[in-house]
Amino acid sequence: MSKVTVIGAGNVGATVANVLAHKDLVKEIVLVDIVGDLAKGKALDTWQQSPIDHYSTSIIGTNDYRDTKNSDIVVITAGIPRKPGMSRDDLITTNANIVTSVVKSIMEYSKNPIIIIVSNPLDVMTYAAYKASGLKRNRVFGMAGILDTARYRAFLATELKVSPKDIQALLLGGHGDTMVPLPRYTTVAGIPVTDLVSKQKLDAIVERTKGGGGELVKLMGTSAWYAPGAAAAQMVEAILKDENRVFPVCAKLDGEYGLKDVFVGVPVKLGKNGIEKMIQLKLNNQEQKLLQDSASAVKEVMNVFDKI
Ligand code: APR
Repeated sequence: MSKVTVIGAGNVGATVANVLAHKDLVKEIVLVDIVGDLAKGKALDTWQQSPIDHYSTSIIGTNDYRDTKNSDIVVITAGIPRKPGMSRDDLITTNANIVTSVVKSIMEYSKNPIIIIVSNPLDVMTYAAYKASGLKRNRVFGMAGILDTARYRAFLATELKVSPKDIQALLLGGHGDTMVPLPRYTTVAGIPVTDLVSKQKLDAIVERTKGGGGELVKLMGTSAWYAPGAAAAQMVEAILKDENRVFPVCAKLDGEYGLKDVFVGVPVKLGKNGIEKMIQLKLNNQEQKLLQDSASAVKEVMNVFDKI
């Protein structure tokens, strides 16, 4: 049985911990936040849900990293949201400092954890964590692709009036406007989606997916947490059960897709060692160009981080 630490007990972190507890596959979850007793309160609330929803996973909240000792997996959701008047570079600097300090504290108490990053801007925060941890690239990666494909699949399910369960899809690239959708890899119970929906409608759905995060910020005044939390918990599950599930995750490329030293979303197999294998698709010219553009946009932000 294993130990999972979730850093940040805000909306996303608390959801990751809660969803994970419901899966009942972890012995212990440690929820960490710098804000006073927030983590303690949310952990206690989730623990008090256990007799109702029937799980044995124990969960504690803390602001002391000694409690994270010997974690198998660490999910990082700590950070601050962008505030009015704050430039993108300021946000990168602030969150990169938070992620870097969190990772250093984690590494003091856990030798070889797997680290999953959720904090935004995702691709560069994954880079920051990779650098601060000194871990191999198969053990540090980011959650974006599962969320982005989930949004895309949900929109398609609404359009086609089918169960979202039957929609399979894949997206590549950075988390944001430059994500690279791959309609030719999208199916409904094995039927190519292009047979079921017009190009015009599909393009509109792709555009809505690209702005999927922003749509929710507009509706709620803050960013989403149910789907992001569930997506991160699904990655933890795939690793703990050594499932070799195929998911798009934000990973460091070392020559794959003709790209090097950049963190972007690609399909991988997730198992007990984290990224067990990166899957290389045969992209057409247009897809390859979109991926390259997306990687260049991420690289620019990585350069901002390098100058900090
Ligand atoms: N160590 C631990 N926790 C921290 C630290 C730190 N150094 N700095 C900030 N936090 C905590 C905050 O106290 C807060 O409780 O991180 C939490 C973030 O929670 P929210 O503000 O509710 O943000 P949330 O919606 O959970 O999003 C977290 O995930 O999806 C991304 O874009 C999102 O980057 C954001 C992150």
